[in-house]
Amino acid sequence: MKQVNVGLLGLGTVGTGVVRIVEGHREDLQSQTGSPIHISKILVKDRAKTRSISVDSSKLTEDPWEIVRDPAIDVIVEVMGGVGETKQYILEALELGKHVVTANKDLMALHGQELLAKAREKGCDIYYEASVAGGIPIIRTLIEGFSSDRITKIMGIVNGTTNYILTKMSQEGAAYGDVLKEAQALGYAESDPTSDVEGLDAARKMTILSTLGFRANVALDDVDVKGISSVTQEDIQYAKQLGYEVKLLGIAERQDEYISVAVEPTLVKKSHPIASVNGVFNAVYVYGEAVGETMFYGPGAGELPTATSIVADLVAVVKNLKLGVNGKQAVTSYKEKKLKTDEQ
Ligand code: NDP
Ligand code: HSE
Repeated sequence: MKQVNVGLLGLGTVGTGVVRIVEGHREDLQSQTGSPIHISKILVKDRAKTRSISVDSSKLTEDPWEIVRDPAIDVIVEVMGGVGETKQYILEALELGKHVVTANKDLMALHGQELLAKAREKGCDIYYEASVAGGIPIIRTLIEGFSSDRITKIMGIVNGTTNYILTKMSQEGAAYGDVLKEAQALGYAESDPTSDVEGLDAARKMTILSTLGFRANVALDDVDVKGISSVTQEDIQYAKQLGYEVKLLGIAERQDEYISVAVEPTLVKKSHPIASVNGVFNAVYVYGEAVGETMFYGPGAGELPTATSIVADLVAVVKNLKLGVNGKQAVTSYKEKKLKTDEQ
């Protein structure tokens, strides 16, 4: 029944959702885990900023080390973004035996193996369900749900901002720049939306999905990336006349030992289920040799959908703490992968 103390790094779109769910679902979370979950400290850049949620101001700090090094904190929830200093905070937290939940795909795509190795070394959990496809539990599905199968294809829409933009351009004839501003105002876009519109955010997510799905070492540099910034209204309208929608797709395939991963604007036939995935919604198609075709659909970004995944991870960590086990979100060993080239 011991209270579990959480240090929250970030109180922006996702962090606010985490506070709302932890507070709003308090009793239900406690009945599942047997322990009260208490957010004891929160990192922000600017304590004086006006916020959309009321929080006890004594919990707010602008000093990350005050949270990371606090011996009373059991779990760090990282929703501040960034890869440089943020990686140091997470490494230090793991070093000190704290468990980590993160939404940070940039960090997991670039340094996931190192962070997972540190977690293993220290007997800590690191969970990152929210890093791919917001509210869709695709990471635990790949690790646990398909552990019995051999996945040969993972394909889908894994960026909410670009799907929101393409949908509004297609359905309302809206201008690219205007819809991008809307997506930013709704909290879907990254702090630098270039990573959304140039396909890098989707590439990071495909790196994570293909690493887990194919149980292979896939690096971000291995992904061929093209974004949507050069897609015009004319392209979209011509495609529609021909019976297609333009979607930014991530496509990862394995043939024998060869793997290819790409992100690019793609013409999708209107009859295909992915063509009707609209707005901020994401969809991930997974083909396994035994199971055949499967598809997972849901909101890919935004405050509460993303926070749902974070808090589910938090529940998993608290349950693990109670049982004295680890449930690190990774396979234990990855094969070296070979890239698929044109000759193969
Ligand atoms: P926001 O920009 O809305 O929030 C970031 C928060 O972190 C803010 O509270 C900010 O403080 C704080 N922060 C950032 N840098 C620092 C720093 N150096 N020191 C102290 N505090 C800092 O980001 P989001 O909530 O949108 O995203 C957070 C993470 O979640 C990112 O990794 C993102 O990729 C990921 N993610 C986001 C999704 C979304 O839908 N938005 C979905 C899935 C993942 P302050 O409030 O004072 O500015
Ligand atoms: N910027 C991201 C998106 C947030 O639009 O999909 C969710 O990872």
